Amino acid sequence: MIQLDGVGQVFDGREGQVTALEEIDLHVREGEFVTLIGRSGCGKSTLLRLIAGLLPPTSGTVKVAGDPVTGPRPDVSFMFQRPALLPWRSVLSNVMLPIEIDGRTGGRSKTAYRELAHQLLEMVGLQGFERRLPQELSGGMQQRVSLCRSLIRDPQVLLMDEPFSALDALTRTELSEELQRIKMELSTTIVFVTHSIEEAVVLADRVVVLTPRPGRMRQIVDIDIPRPRSLGQNAHLTEVARISGLLHGLLAEKAEPTEQRLLDEVWPR
Ligand SMILES: Nc1ncnc2c1ncn2[C@@H]1O[C@H](COP(=O)(O)OP(=O)(O)OP(=O)(O)O)[C@@H](O)[C@H]1O
Ligand SMILES: [Mg+2]
Repeated sequence: MIQLDGVGQVFDGREGQVTALEEIDLHVREGEFVTLIGRSGCGKSTLLRLIAGLLPPTSGTVKVAGDPVTGPRPDVSFMFQRPALLPWRSVLSNVMLPIEIDGRTGGRSKTAYRELAHQLLEMVGLQGFERRLPQELSGGMQQRVSLCRSLIRDPQVLLMDEPFSALDALTRTELSEELQRIKMELSTTIVFVTHSIEEAVVLADRVVVLTPRPGRMRQIVDIDIPRPRSLGQNAHLTEVARISGLLHGLLAEKAEPTEQRLLDEVWPR
C-alpha cells in the first residue's frame, strides 16, 4: 500500500542544509499497522508528510497504492497531535467537514455520509454528542471526533502523528484500544508516530525504529503478540515490557551486549 524507496529529505534551514531523512526503504502492506519511533527531530513527521504528499522528497520515490505520490490524495488521511476542530461547528458537522470542503462525494450521497458519521461517532462512544460544540467536550472526546473526521472518507491510508500524546494515561489506553477495534473493522492501513514505546508495541504489527538525525532505518521489529492488546492490565504485559525494553536500548543506541545479541537472533539486521 505504501512504498518508500531510497527516500531522502534535505531541508534548507537558516543555518545551512539539514538532512532530515536518509535512505529510507519501507514497504507497508495493505491493512498493516506500522508504528514509527525515534528521537525528537529524527524525521518522523517529515516521513508522514512525504507519504501524505504534503512535501516532495529530495531523493527517492514514494508510492501509495502503486502510484507515485504527487500531492495530497483523498484516500490518505492525516491526524495530528491536536484535534484542530472548528469551535463554532457541532461535533457532527466537524466530522462532515472533509466532505463539505472538497465536495467530492466518492459515489456516496450526503445522507450516506451523515449516516457514516453517526456510525463512526457511535464506534468511539460519542453517540448523543452529535450536536455539542467542541468546547463542551474533554480533550479525549475531541480527539475521538478528530479520529472520526479522519475516517469519514473511508481512507485507504491513515497517517497519525502522536495523536494521543496530549491525553491522560487512562484516556490514552482507552483510545488505543478503540483504535485497534476500529482498525479491525475498517482494515485501514495505518502509520502511527509515537514517543511512547509501549504504545508503539501495543498497537503495531511492526515497529520501525529510526536513528537520530538524520533519520535512517535502524531496525524493523515484528510484534506477534495476540490481539486485542492493551496498555493497561492484560495477559501480555510481560511480553510488551520485554520488547519495549529492547526497543529502549535500540533508541538509546547503546543496547547492552546481551540485548543486542538477543535482538540479532530474533530480528537479524
Ligand atoms: N520545513 C522545514 N524546514 C527546515 N527544517 C525542517 C523543516 N521541517 C523539519 N525540519 C527539520 O527536519 C528534522 C526532522 O523534523 P521532524 O519534524 O520530521 O522530526 P520528528 O521526528 O517529527 O520530531 P518530533 O519527535 O520532535 O516531532 C528536524 O531537524 C527539523 O528541524
Ligand atoms: Mg514530529
